[in-house]
Amino acid sequence: MENKKIKISLVFGTRPEAIKMCPLAKRLQGNPCFEVINIVTAQHRQMLDSVLDLFEIKPDYDLNLMKPNQDLWNLSSDILLETKKVFDAVKPDLVLVHGDTTTASMSALSAFYSGIKIGHVEAGLRTFDKNYPFPEEINRVIVDSISDLMFCPTDKAVDNIKKSGIYNGIYKTGNTVIDALLHVVENKKTNLDFIDLNPNLKTILLTSHRRENFGEPLKNICYGIKELVEKNKDIQVVYPLHLNPNVRNTVKPILEGVERVKLIEPLDYSPFCALMKKSYIILTDSGGIQEEAPSLAIPVLVLRDETERPEAVEYGGVKLVGTDKSRIVKTVQELLDNKDKYNKMSKAINPYGDGKACEKIEKAIIQYFSCQK
Ligand code: UD1
Ligand code: UDP
Repeated sequence: MENKKIKISLVFGTRPEAIKMCPLAKRLQGNPCFEVINIVTAQHRQMLDSVLDLFEIKPDYDLNLMKPNQDLWNLSSDILLETKKVFDAVKPDLVLVHGDTTTASMSALSAFYSGIKIGHVEAGLRTFDKNYPFPEEINRVIVDSISDLMFCPTDKAVDNIKKSGIYNGIYKTGNTVIDALLHVVENKKTNLDFIDLNPNLKTILLTSHRRENFGEPLKNICYGIKELVEKNKDIQVVYPLHLNPNVRNTVKPILEGVERVKLIEPLDYSPFCALMKKSYIILTDSGGIQEEAPSLAIPVLVLRDETERPEAVEYGGVKLVGTDKSRIVKTVQELLDNKDKYNKMSKAINPYGDGKACEKIEKAIIQYFSCQK
């Protein structure tokens, strides 16, 4: 490998992958050992583009695959077939994928079929239940089982990989989401005036988009929110709605027009970080937000029954509340009424990294390919 650049293709396609991969793309692009080729599947379109703009990343290949209300079968086969063509043309030495999406599992499988080495960013997360989250738990297992390099955010993630009988190529790096978050919080100034928040009210930020919450669970969440704003005249709820029609078509009939509930379009990452910082409590089923909010000292109630991110639950900043309406209402009410309980949860802790994950991943890749700078 000496004197020859290592060709690295980063493949990503959804909003959270972009947030967590763009800082890494930037870092690797700055290293003369590497030739970096960014490939986006565009499993998401608008929500991906807004992150690419923020980090000023122009993809080398844009597969432009998103279709309205896409299904797993068609999206999976499109990613397999289209990434093969790009891998054939580019011939990367290493393909980096992120996390647990269809983009991650199918582009890793495609790289595996093409005999290309694979690096998994955010490796080792598990609930050990194949249906929760669906289909993400199996996506992660697929990617880890065919990866050569596994970049784990925490000790627990490292242990999970070892438990599956894999011992080589594992690196504890922290999560690149903290690199992204710190970059944005420190460098980007954002004005939230366009949301028209009432400064005299406590803001509760809500996001929910997971497949296993479609239908009844999401309805329960919405009815819980309705009850909470009716009972508490001193709160306002902001819900940036995911563009998935399964989310919008359920939420709007219940929450549209409800006093002190603001249903807004998905926010660009920088205003979203500013909104998280301003919030009193965050309710979410998002993976990334469970990692970011504890760093900002905002209590998080997770609208799921399990989490592959147990670290912040153990530290006390995150609590699992599921999707039962009365449990959601009771837990939020306790935090609103009991300052001691609230203070215990709102501690700035950072179990997911120190903002240096990209640097650690870069070092691990250099070590793996024995590259001389
Ligand atoms: C996907 C991931 C999920 C991740 C989430 C992050 C899979 C199986 N699911 O779920 O793990 O947590 O992204 O947000 O990989 N849409 C748009 N514009 C966009 C994005 C989405 O219109 O920019 C709409 C489209 O109609 C699209 C639909 O949302 O078909 C669903 O997108 P998809 O990526 O299949 O599922 P998500 O629910 O976003
Ligand atoms: N996010 C954003 N705008 C929003 C909602 C979320 O930028 O309106 C960010 C959030 O800060 C986090 C990521 O998107 O970094 C989470 O994405 P999502 O919830 O879609 O996916 P998940 O993390 O559950 O896979």
